[in-house]
Amino acid sequence: MSKKTYITTPLYYVNDAPHIGHSYTNVAADVLARYKRLSGEDVFFLTGTDEHGQKIERAAKENGETPQQLADRVVENFKGLWERLNISNDDFIRTTENRHKKAVTAFFLKLYEKGDIYRGKYEGWYCTPCETYCPEGQVDNQKCPSCGRQLERLEEEGYFFRMSAYAQDLLDYLDKNPKFIMPENRGQEIINIIKGGLKDLSISRSTFDWGIPVPVSDKGEIIYVWFDALINYITAAGYMEDEERFKSFWPAAVHIVGKDILKFHAIIWPTMLIAAGLELPKMVAVHGWWTVDGKKMSKSSGNAINPDDIIKQVGVDGYRYFLLRAVPFGQDGDFSQDGLIHRVNSDLANDLGNLVSRTIAMVNKYFDGNIPSAQKGDNPLKETALRIIPLVDNAMCRLEFHNALSNIWELIGECNKFVDKNAPWVLFKEGKIDELSFVLYNLLESIRIIAILVSPFIPKIAGTIWTHLGMDEPLASLRLNCLKWGRLQCGKKVIPFTEPIYARITGHS
Ligand code: ME8
Repeated sequence: MSKKTYITTPLYYVNDAPHIGHSYTNVAADVLARYKRLSGEDVFFLTGTDEHGQKIERAAKENGETPQQLADRVVENFKGLWERLNISNDDFIRTTENRHKKAVTAFFLKLYEKGDIYRGKYEGWYCTPCETYCPEGQVDNQKCPSCGRQLERLEEEGYFFRMSAYAQDLLDYLDKNPKFIMPENRGQEIINIIKGGLKDLSISRSTFDWGIPVPVSDKGEIIYVWFDALINYITAAGYMEDEERFKSFWPAAVHIVGKDILKFHAIIWPTMLIAAGLELPKMVAVHGWWTVDGKKMSKSSGNAINPDDIIKQVGVDGYRYFLLRAVPFGQDGDFSQDGLIHRVNSDLANDLGNLVSRTIAMVNKYFDGNIPSAQKGDNPLKETALRIIPLVDNAMCRLEFHNALSNIWELIGECNKFVDKNAPWVLFKEGKIDELSFVLYNLLESIRIIAILVSPFIPKIAGTIWTHLGMDEPLASLRLNCLKWGRLQCGKKVIPFTEPIYARITGHS
């Protein structure tokens, strides 16, 4: 039976239009999902929307809609963008769906019956944009320590999750599983917070009503939006609905999240799971924050980058490539137009595009399109290809997408040098057909391997290259063992290009 991998993205709030930050998380998750499928793993890839809470209720009111109308309208923006970006999610969950309400209700009751949810009183500073109370010690001038916006003083009587009771269990777990939070350096920050003391968590609200009802309340109280939303990860895996399926995908989960919501995923969620007697996910993978020209993106400053504007400019694959190549996963990155154009022109149009189109053109010209057979033994491209394959694998397992890409581009660079050094046009002129055949075979075989390796990142371009190599099997059905050297189908015909694989973006660097 193949290994199960469950990849999740955060559920995005439906009060906002998707921007480059949201798309970054989903592209990273998609690339990982595609790579894991290529590795032969049985992948379940989930994304979705977070539709409850005060923030959504307020946004709906401002628009003169009901929260459900707002959610039904905005969810389409997310679904549409994921489709355009070629995101290969297997499921899309909305927290307003019945399957989720059922799971949240059952989860709440389980903890309540255990005594891990109790009734109490709370007063504190609440940040509605972040939908969280802020610890008193961190509040300065009534501003949220995380997003800097105005806090509200709230006093509520309601239900509490006994989170403090699980602090030590979580610390022990983090100690035994140093790779639970990736990159590893983010783990320490979480350990420090837990060691600083965990309070119980207020998990019900009574001042508004857009949420899942507290099942044990007769006062119309609703469940706190984060307590509700985090449970989505088990809802979609079949919790309380399909135990067999649930067991097969849980706890094989990798949660991909931005650094803003690490605490929720690395403290609140694990303690909820421990309380419910469930295993913890395999990993919480944390990425950094995108800014634009050095500034935080926000609705109010109007500087949020709309992914569709970039797609129009550089194409879906150009955009996907740029996101993962420009910034190491885990670090913050700044978006700049010049950086974007320079990156896609140099890497996709020049390095990759030229290599593939000139190689195919030469096979077409010198061998009438027939893939030549290798007449001699090994060569430096084989050595580079076989060296980088495990490096790419290692980088992908560590979510170091930029390193995986730079390893692949090392092979592309070697291929381009190999063309220049061996000058096939001279070999042809001099009638050295065996040598010419050897050079072109090795280039085509390297390109075959490159197409497989880049396919999780730039699936459309990879598919085009694959078709032009005259390969029979569909690229999507391949597994990593196809990366063995020598699988090119000699005697088949390449298909010449009539247009560039990736057209250079003009008017910029
Ligand atoms: O937090 N740079 O939803 P959200 C990088 N509903 N990533 C960014 C980003 C930026 N500038 N802006 C947003 C929520 N993101 C909750 C999640 S999960 C059970 C509930 C990405 O709509 C990043 O992944 O505010 C971040 O964690 C997520 O969007 C927050 O999306």
